[in-house]
Amino acid sequence: MRIVFLGAPGSGKGTQSQRLVERHGIPQVSTGDLLRAHVRDGTELGRRAKSVMDAGQLVDDATILGMVRERLAAPDAARGFILDGFPRTVPQAEGLEQMLAAIGQPLDAAVLFDVDSELLVKRISGRRTCQDCGRVFNVHTAPPPSPPPCGGQCETPRLVQRPDDKEETVARRLEVYEEQTRPLVGFYEQRGLLRSIDAEGDLPTVTARLEAALAPRG
Ligand code: AP5
Repeated sequence: MRIVFLGAPGSGKGTQSQRLVERHGIPQVSTGDLLRAHVRDGTELGRRAKSVMDAGQLVDDATILGMVRERLAAPDAARGFILDGFPRTVPQAEGLEQMLAAIGQPLDAAVLFDVDSELLVKRISGRRTCQDCGRVFNVHTAPPPSPPPCGGQCETPRLVQRPDDKEETVARRLEVYEEQTRPLVGFYEQRGLLRSIDAEGDLPTVTARLEAALAPRG
């Protein structure tokens, strides 16, 4: 299964990716997570990306495409993948299409997560991520078990708020989504790959809608 998750910041792409990874045994490829790893490791790419991410803007297409090309060449992506937060611009979508055509492995679907904008802001403001294992929680809607978070997976769990989850940055990220990423809805619709889901509701309900949207069509 080769799929793209499309949707505004806070729509639940990362959360549902983590649930599907467990169920289907294919990796989640999150460009946001890859970039945050570069920032954490202090690489040259990370130093360039940090100020762009902190401002709620998009990192340039060439950097992102290079990073994704390298990640998809890893052995664990041979059986499929979930692209979470990529592509985000039409040039990125075109680049991905060419990349996958070259290896004869086209996308199966692009799923659009549909969530009301007020709820997006609430979800993002409550988001906390485990710095050790990367699992995502929410102080309002998906609180971690107390103690320990991560169901005991992490020895020293620490929940942190992302630097780009500040209110003014979130507003900018939502604008950037509308301007630069929303056009991908038409891009994938034209190719017959678009599936939209109502991504409001509790986690299992949204997962069930997602699984139904991804079920083979007869
Ligand atoms: P990225 O990390 O991709 O962030 P994003 O797309 O803005 O998405 P989010 O991670 O904010 O939201 P999500 O949809 O994954 O929601 P989540 O599951 O966490 O990108 C960060 C930055 O990196 C970008 O701004 C950009 O600068 C750069 N970047 C990344 N990719 C790029 C690219 N391709 N090109 C250029 N630049 C790029 O859920 C949110 C919260 O809600 C959580 O707390 C969760 O617990 C909760 N929640 C989720 N689902 C539910 C539910 N059903 N009910 C209740 N609570 C829920």
